[in-house]
Amino acid sequence: MRILVTGGCGFIGSGFLRYALAQEGVERVVNLDSLTYSGRLENVSELEGDARFRHVTGDITDAALVSKLMEEEDPTHVVNFAAESHVDRSLFAARCFVSTNIDGTLCLLEATRARQEATGKELRFLQISTDEVYGDLETDDGFFVETMPLDPRNPYSATKAGADLLALAFAKTHKLWLVVTRSSNNYGPRQFPEKLIPLMITNALEGKQLPVYGDGKNVRDWLWVDDNCAGVWAALVNGKPGEAYNLGGASERPNIDVVKGILAALDKPESLITYVKDRPGHDRRYAIDFSKAKRDLGFEPNMTFEDGLAKTVAWYRDNAEWWTALKGGSFADYYKEHYGKLGLKGD
Ligand code: NAD
Ligand code: DAU
Repeated sequence: MRILVTGGCGFIGSGFLRYALAQEGVERVVNLDSLTYSGRLENVSELEGDARFRHVTGDITDAALVSKLMEEEDPTHVVNFAAESHVDRSLFAARCFVSTNIDGTLCLLEATRARQEATGKELRFLQISTDEVYGDLETDDGFFVETMPLDPRNPYSATKAGADLLALAFAKTHKLWLVVTRSSNNYGPRQFPEKLIPLMITNALEGKQLPVYGDGKNVRDWLWVDDNCAGVWAALVNGKPGEAYNLGGASERPNIDVVKGILAALDKPESLITYVKDRPGHDRRYAIDFSKAKRDLGFEPNMTFEDGLAKTVAWYRDNAEWWTALKGGSFADYYKEHYGKLGLKGD
């Protein structure tokens, strides 16, 4: 297998690169990443000694570069992780979400189609989508299933739904071997400290307030990042073309329980919690039925939330040099300016 991965300098993509290089029969793994604020070369530095690995700094919207890479590397598989991934940012800066998440996906799909036509060989494509494309369960009952209509509620999830549907349309109209994975909230080491779990851990370590949106009772289903990578791999190898697969962690938790768990693990007081104004259009509950992936791919989340959270807390505690620079300077000013206006952040 020769795999072209996009977005491999980010949180999940870097985990997938490590996972793929540990599998049998993998001759080559090429990572295309434009190194946005969340893409970090140090996330892949340990792979640099592996002769099968190549990193290319570049944008997935750059059609000439993508087709040049296809010719140079002759991939057998493409896995598209690259995205603008943070909901809060999409509330006030949606343009780059449309560009990367929709235009970028289209660029990769077109290059894949062209390459397949030119070589006459199957080129598998896996589109990384999200459970957010289903919208909001709103109640305590029910789960997302793959047959539900997509109903995204924020600019981020709208662009992911657009890409998801575009990919599935390419599978039908252009007879591409293509599958989509829709996972729930990932957590683990190397997640950018803007997302709930790493933001709360690093704020607590710095003795800062922990800003909980609304009443803190919104529910997410937490999936250990390596379990997601295993599910993506299984879909790439054993998925049925034209299908979407939900990947979940069987670990539904209200946000406030997650935050209190982090404080307990760090032996910090709950007085650090600050309830702040709710995220606009904040989806109440995500919960995922992954029985299709279990049945067809053998997917199963292996990590318990308690063990995974303890490992994540320990990683951020032991790797402060990875995240401290990300929480200072212009990045913090950017946040203050925008979230300040929305009243989202406590500080
Ligand atoms: P991330 O923000 O940590 O990483 C995104 C990566 O994409 C970065 O390395 C960035 O530099 C790169 N990138 C962004 N725009 C690019 C462009 N135009 N060209 C090339 N590279 C570009 O995100 P993540 O949390 O690792 O998410 C990865 C994927 O998984 C995304 O598609 C996201 O929608 C999806 N997803 C994430 C979660 C989650 O909980 N984090 C859950 C479900 C699905
Ligand atoms: O469900 C999958 C999605 O999970 C992915 O597609 C996205 O890429 C990923 O960012 C994530 O989206 P969420 O919006 O669920 O993640 P986030 O970590 O931003 O927020 C998790 C929950 O915590 C959500 O209910 C909002 C809340 N929250 C978040 C932050 C950053 C807070 O209460 N306070 C905060 O400061």
